[in-house]
Order: sequence, then C-alpha cells, then structure tokens
Amino acid sequence: MDTIVGHPAIKATTFREATAEDWDYVTRLGREAIQKNAGRPVIDLLRSQKDVPNHGWQVNNYEHSLQCATRALRNGETEEYIVACLLHDLCQDLNPYNHDKLAGDALRYYVSDELHWVVANHQVFQLSFRDHSKFDRTACEKFRGHPHFEAAMRFCEHYDMNCFGKYDYLPLEHFEPMVYRLYEKGVQAFHAKHPY
Ligand SMILES: [Fe+2]
Ligand SMILES: [Fe+2]
Repeated sequence: MDTIVGHPAIKATTFREATAEDWDYVTRLGREAIQKNAGRPVIDLLRSQKDVPNHGWQVNNYEHSLQCATRALRNGETEEYIVACLLHDLCQDLNPYNHDKLAGDALRYYVSDELHWVVANHQVFQLSFRDHSKFDRTACEKFRGHPHFEAAMRFCEHYDMNCFGKYDYLPLEHFEPMVYRLYEKGVQAFHAKHPY
C-alpha cells in the first residue's frame, strides 16, 4: 500500500512497534505533506461555507469574511492582517459560542502573537458595538489594560461589526495566494524551530 505522497508504508502498526528509522521516515513524509498542503485546509473550509444561511443579516458568514478581508486590503493593512480578517469567523459553524478561539488556533504560528490574540478574543470585543441589544456591551472590560486591548477593539470596529451590509467585496480567489504564502512561511518557521 502506498502512502498519499507515493511512498511505501512502514510495517509497524503501532507507535511502539515503529523503529527509530520508521520515525525518521514518517516524520519526514508527514512534514513534507504538511508543507505542501499549507493553507489548503482553511481555504477549503471557508469555501465550503459559500451558501450557509445569513441569520437575518444582509450577508452570510462567507460574504462577511470576504468583506472584512476586502476592507482590510483597501485600508492598506498588512497581508497577515488581511488573512486574519478573512479567517476570523472560519469556525463559526463548528462552535458558534467558541468560534474565536478555534479561529485563533487555526491562525496560531502563522500570525503575530497580537493578531492571534485579537482573533481569539474578538467575540467578547464585538459585543461592545451591539448598541441596541440586550448583550453585555461591557464584557470586554475584563481585558482592560491588556497589551492587545486596543488592537482587538480596532479590529472589531473596522473589520467586523461594520461588515454586515452589501459591499463590493473581492472573491476568495483574490486572497488565496496570501493565505498560502502566510501558511507556507509559518510551517517552514515552525519546522525549523521544532525539529521534532
Ligand atoms: Fe466572530
Ligand atoms: Fe465577524
């Protein structure tokens, strides 16, 4: 039986049976596959959401994500920031009530610590802008004084809470090369830092 990258599979069927050579082999092949596939899973997941329900807003989560990224691009944000905007709600349907942490983890190692924190905590910050709702608009105050507090507030004000109306956004294909560049670079850096 061949592996997905065209190399023969090892004989061991458990971790404990695998020899030192086996470990070198599967680790190398695994890393090559990860490198080759960098960015693909997040793009595939986002693309799969094209027709999700809109929950009553003028746009669905897919359009919202593209709108956030397009606004960031047009405002001259960095490529890393644009990708974070594109993916900040990537996991909305996996767990709506913890989707910021899931998206944060999807971006971990690929963006700065600040940007990771911003995405991983945007749920509580965007509550601040629900002016006429029954939600707790002061919930983010628990983070007051945190070094990334202002960055999170800025993200939600400019690239989240304002992206629910019709807007001339760019297609996903426009952002794909940015995602691949960021993830390929991130995977390379991670592998260099963690040989095992
Ligand atoms: Fe969100
Ligand atoms: Fe959002």
